[in-house]
Amino acid sequence: MTVLVVGGAGYIGSHVCKQLSASGFSPVVYDNLQSGHKEAVKWGTLVEGDLLDEQTLEKAFKSHSPTAVIHLASEIDCRESAIDPGKFYRNNVVGSLTLLQVMACCKVQALVFSSTAAVYGMPNQIPITEDHPCQPINVYGKTKKMVEEMLPDFFKAHQMRSVSLRYFNAAGADSSGLIGEAHRHETHLIPLAILAALGKKPQLQIFGDGTAIRDYVHVTDLAMAHVKALQWLLKGGESLTLNLGSGRGYSVQEVIAMVEKQSGKPVPHQKIAKNPSDPDALVASIEKARKLLDWTPEHSELSEIVSTALRWHSI
Ligand SMILES: NC(=O)c1ccc[n+]([C@@H]2O[C@H](COP(=O)([O-])OP(=O)(O)OC[C@H]3O[C@@H](n4cnc5c(N)ncnc54)[C@H](O)[C@@H]3O)[C@@H](O)[C@H]2O)c1
Repeated sequence: MTVLVVGGAGYIGSHVCKQLSASGFSPVVYDNLQSGHKEAVKWGTLVEGDLLDEQTLEKAFKSHSPTAVIHLASEIDCRESAIDPGKFYRNNVVGSLTLLQVMACCKVQALVFSSTAAVYGMPNQIPITEDHPCQPINVYGKTKKMVEEMLPDFFKAHQMRSVSLRYFNAAGADSSGLIGEAHRHETHLIPLAILAALGKKPQLQIFGDGTAIRDYVHVTDLAMAHVKALQWLLKGGESLTLNLGSGRGYSVQEVIAMVEKQSGKPVPHQKIAKNPSDPDALVASIEKARKLLDWTPEHSELSEIVSTALRWHSI
């Protein structure tokens, strides 16, 4: 069964393709390679194309006849979204709308969508459950919320069912060492801390005093959740919105200490002013995904996340 993986040449998408392939699906990657990598497409074929290019997208649907779509393509840097909002609305909202319209036209009725914890904004309770109000505080989060809001309308009009997966912080790398986090412009804490320890990047900049808590989920666990979400839809399951995290938080200081312990090297770092709108803590409640998808994060201990990421960045 063919699955079109839009954004499948990227960090999370490449791990999703590996898991799809191991679970008996045939992934076809549709990606413009703006931040993805040709060499990360190791499971399935690559169709080079842009989400905003309706004709090329439609051609990919016609030639590969996918049963379902996993949509991970997006601008992802939330700080950049304040500087260049138009780029985010165009790629994340107009791009997703183009995809939904082509899916409707080609009668493809199952979609797994990469959403984010950024849809919640400032949490008023921890852990955050899926019924927490969605009041995003950056353009990136707003674009993902807008796409989530389109999905029920595409269900009503075109019977398109979807699972929106709100990831917390994806981290770690595949245990094979073949694929891992390879963002060209890296903004995430764990790779930046590792690269600083390895002397491959200048010192790490920490916003605030290092007490901010985030929920890190191993990319292999995320990939498995995509397969389970897809299987849910293919069995006729209703549309869902699910958090994906580990259900536990670690501070910046704890992450640095783990990187130092595992690399045997200090992480040079510098503290800079905290953005007042950065939440002190973001931790997922993952009970809904556990219950409905029978999904459990099995690789999301901080030690395994850091050891697999360290291996990837050391190659
Ligand atoms: N990395 C995280 O911690 C995290 C957390 C929450 C949500 N997400 C979401 O997960 C998804 C994947 O994130 P990632 O970290 O793998 O990012 P990534 O940049 O590695 O992957 C995105 C992929 O989409 C492709 N792409 C982007 N715009 C495209 C377009 N217009 N047409 C075709 N391809 C396009 C890129 O080339 C890239 O291969 C994104 O939707 C992101 O918002 C990521």
